[in-house]
Amino acid sequence: MRRPLWIKHAAQLVTVAGGKGPRIGAEMSELGLIEDGSVWVENGEIKAVGTTAELEAQFGEWAEDADVYEAKGRLVTPGLIDPHTHFVYGGSREKEFEMRLEGASYMDIMNAGGGIHATARMTRKATEEELYRQAERRLDSFLRHGVTTVEGKSGYGMELQTELKQLNVMKQLNERHPVDIIPTFMGAHAVPPEFKGREDDFVRLIIDEMIPAVAADQLAVFNDVFCEVGVYTPEQSRRILEAGKRHGLAPKIHADEIEPYGGAELAAEVGAVSAEHLLKASVEGIRQMAAAGVIACLLPATALYLREEAAQGREMIDAGVPVAISTDCNPGSSPTTSMPLVMNLACISMRMTPAEALVAATINAAHAIGMQDKAGSIEPGKQADLVIWNVENYQELQYLFGINHVGAVWKKGEKVI
Ligand code: NIG
Ligand code: FE
Repeated sequence: MRRPLWIKHAAQLVTVAGGKGPRIGAEMSELGLIEDGSVWVENGEIKAVGTTAELEAQFGEWAEDADVYEAKGRLVTPGLIDPHTHFVYGGSREKEFEMRLEGASYMDIMNAGGGIHATARMTRKATEEELYRQAERRLDSFLRHGVTTVEGKSGYGMELQTELKQLNVMKQLNERHPVDIIPTFMGAHAVPPEFKGREDDFVRLIIDEMIPAVAADQLAVFNDVFCEVGVYTPEQSRRILEAGKRHGLAPKIHADEIEPYGGAELAAEVGAVSAEHLLKASVEGIRQMAAAGVIACLLPATALYLREEAAQGREMIDAGVPVAISTDCNPGSSPTTSMPLVMNLACISMRMTPAEALVAATINAAHAIGMQDKAGSIEPGKQADLVIWNVENYQELQYLFGINHVGAVWKKGEKVI
């Protein structure tokens, strides 16, 4: 039996406790704040939450046998959850960053064989060991930014071997690294050059060979598609997502990122767990997502990096769509691991409130990747994934932007930062 952990004297303990489904509307502002808060942890699990005085009364006599950690007037939150990343990839694309600043568009670069295709070439070439080492460094960086759970997508292979290589790297890292990883298959990330003009043949390959192989080895939980003008049509995306469902892979969809294309509507139709990006989502698509309970996973760092208008986060919340936020960590459109920056941007560029940004980065993000029973809030029975921030309150965390305020991080009760 491990020694219990007692974190005490948090100026504010943000529990985000209570509620069943993803938070919508006014619920997105409910933080379950406890002033002078305390958490008692046993065997990696949260055992009790309350004020320091309450926990003193309940556990004070065992304090000598516990690791006691003074939050000393700082903010404590659940470990952040990043529900949308592409963190396993080979190489780097800093030259494209310069090209874009000189005027080339993201899609121009991709259509000329760069972008996702460039990373796919480097990922195909990399050994599993090389991919593992690079991805491990990115996970370390997530942890340093207070992120204790990430979703990760394949999609830089677009051929079975490399897709499996990426998913295997995630499987091994999930076993060895403190960060929990939820894997997503994204064979339909782009159309590989060898299938140019024969897109439907590649869709058939994904459906007939890749999805069954990934599902048979239980290498993914979700199935994602880049539904975009010039990539996959809504009709092709529907076929791929329905095929995933038949193999037990829940649908996600990169929707309406660059052009309005009916992606939000498709997400509602196929019962996607979440729809991602949505910069150009239609009002009708947003209405349908609200009615179907599809989580909008919004990526304001990507919008900033592509120098695009951010998604309509405020309007989506007001329309009753549950909103989560994410880094989209990838080598082209958002090379960052900073969820705190993403929370800042959710406030600045999508007019979300500091409380809504925290809910979007914790419990709603947990719902977006099926982790709501284990993570995303500080409640008895959940994993002790906890962060102390060197600020006094949650507003300060969003207000002092672009700064890493992480003071300490615990994953399943182990101090990792
Ligand atoms: O979510 N939009 C498609 N996929 C990623 C970008 C991947 C890349 O550029 O390497 C995204 O933005
Ligand atoms: Fe993405």
